[in-house]
Amino acid sequence: MAASAVNPRFRIEAEGIGQIVFDDPSRSQNVLTAEVMRRLDAAVAEAENAVARGVLRALLVKSGKPRSFIAGADIEAIAAVTDARAGAQAARTGQAVFSRLAALPVPTVAMVRGVCLGGGTELALACDWRVAADGDDTRLGLPEVQLGILPAWGGTTRLPRLVGLRAALGLVLSGKPASASKAARIGLVDQVFPLEQFEYRSWAFARELADGTAPRRRTRRRRTPRRRSLLAWFLDGTPPGRAMVLRTARKQVLKRTGGRYPAPLIVLDVVRRSRGRSVAAGLELEARAAGELLVSSACRNLLFLFGLRERARKGPWAKGGDATCVKRLAVIGAGVMGGGIAQLAAYRDIPTRMKDIRHEAVLGGLAHARSLFDGAVKRRKLRRREAERKMALVSGGLDYAGVGQAGLVVEAVVERADVKQAVLVETEAEMAADAVLATNTSSLSVDRLAGALSRPEQFAGMHFFNPVHRMPLVEVVRGKSTHPDTVETVAALAVRLGKVPVVTRDGPGFLVNRILGACLNEAGHMLAEGMDAQAVDRAWTGFGMPMGPYRLIDEVGIDVAAHAGATLGQAFGERMAPASALVSLAKSGRLGRKGGRGFYLYKNGKQQGLDPDVYGEMGLGAPRSGVRANDVVERLGLAMVNEAGRVLEDGVVASAADVDLGMVMGTGFPPFRGGLLKYADDRGTRDVLASLKALHERFGARFEPCDLVAELGESGTAFHRAFPGAAAKA
Ligand code: NAI
Repeated sequence: MAASAVNPRFRIEAEGIGQIVFDDPSRSQNVLTAEVMRRLDAAVAEAENAVARGVLRALLVKSGKPRSFIAGADIEAIAAVTDARAGAQAARTGQAVFSRLAALPVPTVAMVRGVCLGGGTELALACDWRVAADGDDTRLGLPEVQLGILPAWGGTTRLPRLVGLRAALGLVLSGKPASASKAARIGLVDQVFPLEQFEYRSWAFARELADGTAPRRRTRRRRTPRRRSLLAWFLDGTPPGRAMVLRTARKQVLKRTGGRYPAPLIVLDVVRRSRGRSVAAGLELEARAAGELLVSSACRNLLFLFGLRERARKGPWAKGGDATCVKRLAVIGAGVMGGGIAQLAAYRDIPTRMKDIRHEAVLGGLAHARSLFDGAVKRRKLRRREAERKMALVSGGLDYAGVGQAGLVVEAVVERADVKQAVLVETEAEMAADAVLATNTSSLSVDRLAGALSRPEQFAGMHFFNPVHRMPLVEVVRGKSTHPDTVETVAALAVRLGKVPVVTRDGPGFLVNRILGACLNEAGHMLAEGMDAQAVDRAWTGFGMPMGPYRLIDEVGIDVAAHAGATLGQAFGERMAPASALVSLAKSGRLGRKGGRGFYLYKNGKQQGLDPDVYGEMGLGAPRSGVRANDVVERLGLAMVNEAGRVLEDGVVASAADVDLGMVMGTGFPPFRGGLLKYADDRGTRDVLASLKALHERFGARFEPCDLVAELGESGTAFHRAFPGAAAKA
């Protein structure tokens, strides 16, 4: 075994300062696998030994990776545990290693530079002191609740004891990481050193601790602001104050999650019960809670999705050789999408040129990018200096300057086939011979757009969702002529932009809009039956969707939704024929949120409630029939499942995993359900088929089970079983 493969490694440097260094040669980031934890235990044992021999006076815990400390525990191993007792035991095993480190009788210092998440943060918490490198790369967090679990290697116990209840809940319940400066502010880290002095200052700090010349104050006291406000003292420091904080947090969690995600509620429970008890007692509470959560269906589904997402991000494109690495980007069309794409690329440090035919559009695109950077500064995601540096990477103009240097060009001009075709041909002529051209079209055929190109093999769809900076999905659309290398280049760029790529074949609505179209159209039919729009929206959010179908149509824009609906209707005939209520609504001229009026009224972009006049505009009377939430969920949900079956039949995507990722990342399908087809599988395909048959009898052709659903339903085979595989194959 090569020496560097020992991970982590303990050694004593000069002056009795030791270090434990994490550096996994087989991974880009350090992960706390079972093997690494065993090695850490051995390394701590070596340190104990050195203390006993009097040769170790202080210990630094650090990473050999330049931009990351420790990314967390091994999620795949966590997901493999399906038994509550085994889950609790796994937590205890990790806790024991960290507790051994915490018990070392010499000062221990975690040196955090770069990403420090989950188990990494818990390891840092087990040290006596924490120092962090300044800079945007450094992030400390406990994202466990996002996976349906809780920090159970000491995080839930040690963090509140270190930083106080409110700050701890802020980190654990949101799962969002903190910057070095925020971590310092709340007392999670003791010192922040400039990046270039990080090694040297950390060593000096350890030496001072060893010599006893460092201020030997524990972090808790130092953190305390000199003039701590009475309110802060009350909330963090008194039993009624803490009870109030916990009550408020619980209310907020319930409001945000509807109680569907047990992890944050259990975190609150553990924190409450752990208060005033020993660390050991707290750890035991954590371990039991971890076991309990690991077997919950929300947790299983969140871990399932995490696995799909990681696989999609680590597809063949993850290797990212020079061929697939885009160094410069160009965007044609500086509108809503073009401006958003350019900003995102600059945010990820890719120099980007925007081209439009209107000067105001270019200015608008730049202003859009600037406002997004300003927002990031305001939310303290970026420092002003960094934001300025990144903003300077975006430029724009009316000519093709910079297009020849771009490795990839995204076309995002108006959604008209003739305009797009002309723009694509013109753009291709300006591009480098080996560069890739991609279209952001949402409804036109990639093959048709490729028709007039001279290098169609270097052309693909790159379908971002709106708003670009927030929506995590990119559909990478493979046309008939698209070369696999082109798919890889586009997918690799999507990953670099922080997105999850799902590769689809060309076809109306690609993956997400086609399945969503079936759902929105069904909602249109419900209106004609006299259903109350608000009650339908409520039923759908009750299922866990981020918004109801009519709110969503308002968001998308009634004109855009009608156009997409018409395209699907033309392509798929009767079953997708646009619902008459939606057709009438589009004719009424209402535009949805952007126009201030849709199903709902909007003032300054804020929703003001349903507009009762909207029924009249659709040629309908006031709603008359009662709405049964179950019925709504059944119809909207199964319309989507049936369409997903057709999508698989048609080979639009290769696996059930692709469908699930697409629907969760592209429409916010409730993550706790694991995805659309995971939901269908959990119900059982037999049950899905029986329900679809009943709906078919009630409503006719649009619910006729497709062949695939019929076949799977008859044999009781799960979608994920019949269409397994990585969500990543090109
Ligand atoms: P937009 O109307 O905001 O922007 C289009 C821009 O293209 C305008 O600035 C216009 O001046 C420019 N343009 C028109 N002809 C041009 C030409 N010959 N050369 C250069 N620029 C030209 O439209 P938006 O919403 O940004 O949409 C752009 C594309 O993205 C469309 O294909 C649309 O279907 C797609 N898309 C839109 C989404 C949305 O929600 N807005 C979501 C996903 C995709």
